Amino acid sequence: MPINNRIADFHDEITEWRRTIHQHPGLLYDVEETSALVAEKLKEFGVDEIVEGIGRTGVVGVIKGRKNDSGRVIGMRADMDALPIVEKNDLPHKSKYEGKMHACGHDGHTAMLLGAAKYLAETRNFDGTAVVIFQPAEEGGAGGKAMCDDDMMSRFGIQEVYGLHNMPGLPVGEFAIRPGPLMAGTDEFTVTINGLGAHAAMPHNGNDPIIVATQMVQALQSIVSRNIDPLGSAVLTVTAIHAGKAYNVIPQEAQFYGTVRTLDKAVRDKVIERLQEIVTGIASAYGVEVNIDIKEGYPVTSNHEAQTQFAAEVAREISGDAKVDTNKPPVMGGEDFSYMLLERPGAFIFMGNGDTAGLHHEEYDFNDEAIPVGSSYWAKIAERSMPAS
Ligand code: NI
Repeated sequence: MPINNRIADFHDEITEWRRTIHQHPGLLYDVEETSALVAEKLKEFGVDEIVEGIGRTGVVGVIKGRKNDSGRVIGMRADMDALPIVEKNDLPHKSKYEGKMHACGHDGHTAMLLGAAKYLAETRNFDGTAVVIFQPAEEGGAGGKAMCDDDMMSRFGIQEVYGLHNMPGLPVGEFAIRPGPLMAGTDEFTVTINGLGAHAAMPHNGNDPIIVATQMVQALQSIVSRNIDPLGSAVLTVTAIHAGKAYNVIPQEAQFYGTVRTLDKAVRDKVIERLQEIVTGIASAYGVEVNIDIKEGYPVTSNHEAQTQFAAEVAREISGDAKVDTNKPPVMGGEDFSYMLLERPGAFIFMGNGDTAGLHHEEYDFNDEAIPVGSSYWAKIAERSMPAS
């Protein structure tokens, strides 16, 4: 049975929730409207326990199966936050808040998990406990970590945890996953160079921080090409350079910043170590003061072997063997479900969003055709991992 029939019946209703969430986006932890909607729906479905305010604005719902002989507890997670983007779509459900937009499909993720919660609360055809997790602040605010820090895993006795993200370009009804690293660990760095300002025509009286910054930016490009194993994976991108504001003045200070993406802790440590060596070495060669600020971001999202096999099996039951890619190459984007995978075994899967604009694009919209696929996936994760008979 591919799509769950009962869930197919809910398609219009879930679509309506998705569009309501889309119209009322919130950034990072400011997702009060969405978490209120989630809590209200869970209450309406008659789930056994609803706890709000986990990880500040996160919501957790507990659904007990018809039986609880197995003692199994499975966590399923959706994210609720939007992005600071002005929506360019001309749709009836366009964002009502200028400058905020569900451009990553978290509206769809939330609605699909709600759909599964409705079905699971109605049928309870499993032996154990399903925990639905709705987290804030996936987009850079580490809301997943905040929920874990609030002791979510032990408080609800969660034994395994699963996550899902839509993927534009992958046809609707298809899934992609891999065991091990699936998404990158992210770090941010800021380098501030304190030189000596001077008249542009008398450079010998100063110490030009722009020359130093450009040397550093060039030299940093040697890390990935010369210090990292060619079969390892790393990205180091400088995304901004700021210095000066006149044609005839050498500024006092220059600053640049960027991001490091890696799939392995040892590679990550090596990149950071070389970044520090190169920057301080060049600073000392040019006689300037330098400050390096490294902000450790999301860890690598690394899927556990057994749970990945299980998630792929569930996906195949829904979509058929040919539509589940179990050798998806890792992507260098980050994902804070990684924090949950550090606490419990589990798996993160990509689900096709069809031929839509890309994630974080001003014309992106979650594809409502994918709703029955995602909700069926969640329902089956619960039912198959905790079979009633
Ligand atoms: Ni996302």
